Amino acid sequence: MGLIERLGLSVLHRFDPETAHSLALKALAAGLAGGKGPVSTPRLATTIAGIDLPNPVGAAAGFDKNAVAADKLMRTGFGFCEVGAVTPRPQPGNEKPRLFRLSEDRAAINRFGFNNDGMEAIHANLAARRPNGVVGVNVGANKDTEDKAQDYVAVLTRFHDLVDFATVNVSSPNTERLRDLQGRAALDALLGRVIEARDALPRRVPIFLKIAPDLTDTEIADIAEVAATRGLDAIVATNTTLARDGLRSSHAGQAGGLSGAPLFQSSTAVLATLHHYLKGAVPLIGAGGVSSAEQALIKIRAGASAVQLYTAMVYHGVSLGGRIAQDLDRLLAEQGFDTVADAVGTLET
Ligand code: FNR
Repeated sequence: MGLIERLGLSVLHRFDPETAHSLALKALAAGLAGGKGPVSTPRLATTIAGIDLPNPVGAAAGFDKNAVAADKLMRTGFGFCEVGAVTPRPQPGNEKPRLFRLSEDRAAINRFGFNNDGMEAIHANLAARRPNGVVGVNVGANKDTEDKAQDYVAVLTRFHDLVDFATVNVSSPNTERLRDLQGRAALDALLGRVIEARDALPRRVPIFLKIAPDLTDTEIADIAEVAATRGLDAIVATNTTLARDGLRSSHAGQAGGLSGAPLFQSSTAVLATLHHYLKGAVPLIGAGGVSSAEQALIKIRAGASAVQLYTAMVYHGVSLGGRIAQDLDRLLAEQGFDTVADAVGTLET
């Protein structure tokens, strides 16, 4: 991290976390982070669900909810990014404060509850600054929608002309009963409707599913089976956790989803379990606690074709994704891998 970025972070951390984040986004959108675009080498170039990635390190959903800085975010070096979560109608989300920094734990807790400007405004935002690189949309449902599937279909349909993939997010802990959609029958019905809608679109948008880390082995096995049967394009493992083990920060007791370093182990375990069941039948994206190339490679070796990160940027700056990609290139070479794909799923479990 350069001096300017270090100074910027120390200033930002004097603000409450939500204000700090919107200031960081404004600075990013104004072009202050600079950068030359996705890091790319022959070793890092890879594909997931038929999508070519210059490198496998992505910016996770939630960082640029309203797609106000996707172009600039991609300039910092990430191989891809995911905007959103987007719901059909705008909604304010939960009451503030709803984002907490757990600095001693290198973590965060959020209970935003899908605050976003709604699909029309966000579609216009993204259309105005669509980078050349790979961009996906994270799809959510409005809090007060009875038939949640209808909302996922609406956002997918609205964004199909602009995005490389759409992620069905059934794993936010901050919308009541959303996680119930991960159950076998509910998930099968939801994916059936989403895929049917996708197949009627003029473009085949790859559909990803994002799951929680707080699942039993049986639940993970069920998700794997439904995903494979429905021909899902990828699974993102994982979203934030409800667990609170081993935290030191004073905010540890806040309600919401925990992200960052303490999530690394459990999210990687879910990823490895999915890989065990799927054996490559559905590609995987690893998210949760990634802050270094070493950790990115552990996720890749546990079965991920690509990784995503968010919380580590709070502590190491927005240029972290590009730095991890560069370090990953060296690390892959040191460990004798010619390509990212060669490393996928090579970890002994
Ligand atoms: C998130 N995350 C998230 N995920 C998602 O699918 N849709 C969303 O809208 C959000 N929003 C969101 C807000 C905030 C403040 C945080 C910290 C996280 C989850 C995120 O994409 C990721 O899956 C987890 O945070 C785990 O990765 P990290 O943060 O440990 O790298």
